[in-house]
Amino acid sequence: MTDNKILEITPDVKWIGVLDPDIRTFDIVMETQFGSTYNSYFINATKKVIVDTVKEKFWEVYLAKLLAVVKPEEIEYIIINHTEPDHSGNLENLLKIAKNAKVVGSGNAIRYLLDLIGHEFQHLIVKDGDKIDLGNKTLQFIGAPNLHWPDTMYSYLVEDKVLFTCDSFGAHYCNPEMYCDKVGDYDESFKYYFDVIMKPYSKFMLKGIEKIRPLEIAALCTGHGPLHTTNWDRYIGLTQKYATEALAKPEKHKIALFYVSAYHNTEKVAHKIIEGIKTTDIEVEMYDIEKMPPAEIDEIITNSTAIIIGSPTISQNTFYQIYNVFAVINPIRDRGKLYGSFGSYGWSGEGPKIVDVVLTSLKLKKFAEPFTFKFTAYDEVNDFAVDYGKRFAEACVKYCLA
Ligand code: FEO
Repeated sequence: MTDNKILEITPDVKWIGVLDPDIRTFDIVMETQFGSTYNSYFINATKKVIVDTVKEKFWEVYLAKLLAVVKPEEIEYIIINHTEPDHSGNLENLLKIAKNAKVVGSGNAIRYLLDLIGHEFQHLIVKDGDKIDLGNKTLQFIGAPNLHWPDTMYSYLVEDKVLFTCDSFGAHYCNPEMYCDKVGDYDESFKYYFDVIMKPYSKFMLKGIEKIRPLEIAALCTGHGPLHTTNWDRYIGLTQKYATEALAKPEKHKIALFYVSAYHNTEKVAHKIIEGIKTTDIEVEMYDIEKMPPAEIDEIITNSTAIIIGSPTISQNTFYQIYNVFAVINPIRDRGKLYGSFGSYGWSGEGPKIVDVVLTSLKLKKFAEPFTFKFTAYDEVNDFAVDYGKRFAEACVKYCLA
């Protein structure tokens, strides 16, 4: 696919981003089955502006587009709404030719860029509400931190009513048509992008949306995926819905017990713990997670007020399925949820202890020391497990939803 498109957002705002249709994994953590785009924009005001750059490896394609819209020495401002290298990766190349440009970003953005680039450059730190006079237009900056780095902000071109939000409201979805009303249905990619990138920061997402609600918006220009010259409000609305759902607290106590069990020893004790919990009126479900997808674990944790993890020990470690649980715990969302760990072992018993250390590190609240037992549970251990379940449920009433 020849990528030489320059697209109009408004008569004075052009998309000069690049297409990356072949990327299949993004930042290690995301599958990008539809590729992605890195969106950069040119504002043709009296003072010329570039908004965000593109990934470093696309410099030649990007440079050709840039030269087609502006003489580099005429660029006065380069706005960096977010410094992750998929957006700032060509800043240094650009600064070599845009010798009169000042880099504009939040305080964090400028600090990160100094570390990324490794030398000083002309810059301007802006705060929420600050404006830059472009001669015949005005750029206003909106503080929107933690979306999904501490450096993030939005930029709003007042006269053209164009809002630039970088990662917020974006999607890893590459279709050369680019305009959101021409690319077909990409809701699944939009939701997946939210889930992986923004969901942990839902609280900040809602704050960001609150700030942009009063703006008149003609176009929503994101850092990845389709361009919203129409229908932008649908994508802000969907994001608001997803973020609100992600932050919804369970209304009543609910304990999730996750376990894996090679020889059923850990599983049998899990049943005893459940028996103890059920002597109270606290709701509990147990889940064998040997084959459970992480997304399902994530949803269960979202809707639980406390978790117990049963892990045997294998080669002085726990099992990779337990690491899936660690991976989806979100300290911003799950901080303070009560946890317990238990498990059968043969000779060393590290599994439940690893769970204990990790869950404490992830800011959950410890119920008790890991409860371990050798091989098969007999009377004493079973009695302890029932009592453990009862005490765990009582502690849940005391600490969870408090
Ligand atoms: Fe698209 Fe957080 O970078």
